[in-house]
Amino acid sequence: MPNQLLSPPSGPLQVPITAPSIADINPSFGPKRPLKFSLVIPTYNERGNVTQLIAQLTALLDGFIPAEYELILVDDDSADRTWQVAQDLTDRYPQLQVMRRQKEHGLSSAVIRGWQVAQGEILGVIDADLQHPPEVLLKLLQATLNGADLAVASRHVEGGGVSDWSVVRRFLSRGAQVLGLVVCPAVVGRVSDPMSGYFMVRRSAIAGPLLNPLGYKILLEVIGRGSIKEIAEIGYVFQERVSGASKVTWKQYIDYLGHLARLRSQGKITKVRQDFPTSRLIRYGLVGLSGLFVDMAILYLLSTQLGWGLTRSKIIAAEIAIVSNFFWHDAWTFADLSQRQKGWSARFKRLLKFNTICLIGLGLGVVLLNFFYNLVFQQNQRYVANLIAIGLVAVWNFQINLKLNWRTAAVLRRK
Ligand code: GDD
Ligand code: MN
Repeated sequence: MPNQLLSPPSGPLQVPITAPSIADINPSFGPKRPLKFSLVIPTYNERGNVTQLIAQLTALLDGFIPAEYELILVDDDSADRTWQVAQDLTDRYPQLQVMRRQKEHGLSSAVIRGWQVAQGEILGVIDADLQHPPEVLLKLLQATLNGADLAVASRHVEGGGVSDWSVVRRFLSRGAQVLGLVVCPAVVGRVSDPMSGYFMVRRSAIAGPLLNPLGYKILLEVIGRGSIKEIAEIGYVFQERVSGASKVTWKQYIDYLGHLARLRSQGKITKVRQDFPTSRLIRYGLVGLSGLFVDMAILYLLSTQLGWGLTRSKIIAAEIAIVSNFFWHDAWTFADLSQRQKGWSARFKRLLKFNTICLIGLGLGVVLLNFFYNLVFQQNQRYVANLIAIGLVAVWNFQINLKLNWRTAAVLRRK
């Protein structure tokens, strides 16, 4: 006997503090309760993927927490009838339940609707298209069982990455993250991969507040409105899609920014006291100062001693200063973080990123200098304008290098 379809909840998007009675949700659902874990699988036209996915997930979970979990597939009335393919699977996999939504649609609300009927103490989400490797699931689960309020699969910590992405695509993805750090650092800055749609959260950390997500990035809502203290991050490689197509369009980028702006303007973000990185900032400043001397010395050597052209000398001097700064930062300013990403190839990648961030900082500096000089101050205050520009660029460089370059698993320990 297959499980009967779950009826989609209506009303506000809100996760209940205690799991709803199963008699109200699905009398035909077998497993004993309460459950440890509920995993929501949002789908839209994924019929080519669900069979393999469900087989893999159940095999893993049956070996780890047999009969203490459920899978909830939430389908938005796919034209390819994914919901029906999944429904037919419930015969073989009694832990699986299927919700077919016909009135509402959208990825984020699908996830929350699934959590609303969930019985588990830990609530999770995974894409249906096998781009999120199922093997990572047990590591995430273990991290939450060990006490993390939120465990996020991340492309940007050790063991993480993307399979076949072009430089342009990586740049766009990171650009969106940088923009997010500017718009809403209190949310985006807390994890290395704020775009992740593969994570688990403790029910008690997300139950209660009214959720109001926009677009694709449900994790932003969880971090912004939940009460998340300890976060664990597990590296994973984002796989290429084999069957079906991505549903992402430019609209998701707009939604992402709109979502962050909303989180910020509604001012309900759960602020976590993060220690101000005073000593790191001082180290950063001292290294920057050393770079100034390196730059000056090389410039003197090349242009005065060897008589090279000024521009050529300056470019080489600046580049040597950047590289010198990098090695100091890697060995001193961010030593604690670089120790977690050992090896020369990882170090070389950090150097390339550092270089790119510094060059973008240079461009930013030119724009800021012009802005303050031409629009804010009167004439003859170019040095005041430059000082402010340098200060702002230094903050930029520090912040982006900390969050995007040296950042690894940022596990916040409970005090
Ligand atoms: N129910 C429902 N409704 N599911 C949806 C909808 C919808 O409107 N749109 C997409 N989905 C499902 C897809 O079927 C898939 O299982 C999952 O949500 C992700 O959608 P994709 O279209 O495959 O997204 P992607 O591969 O570009 O996206 C992802 O980017 C991240 C990496 O930055 C995100 O969705 C993340 O989950 C992922 O980690
Ligand atoms: Mn996908």
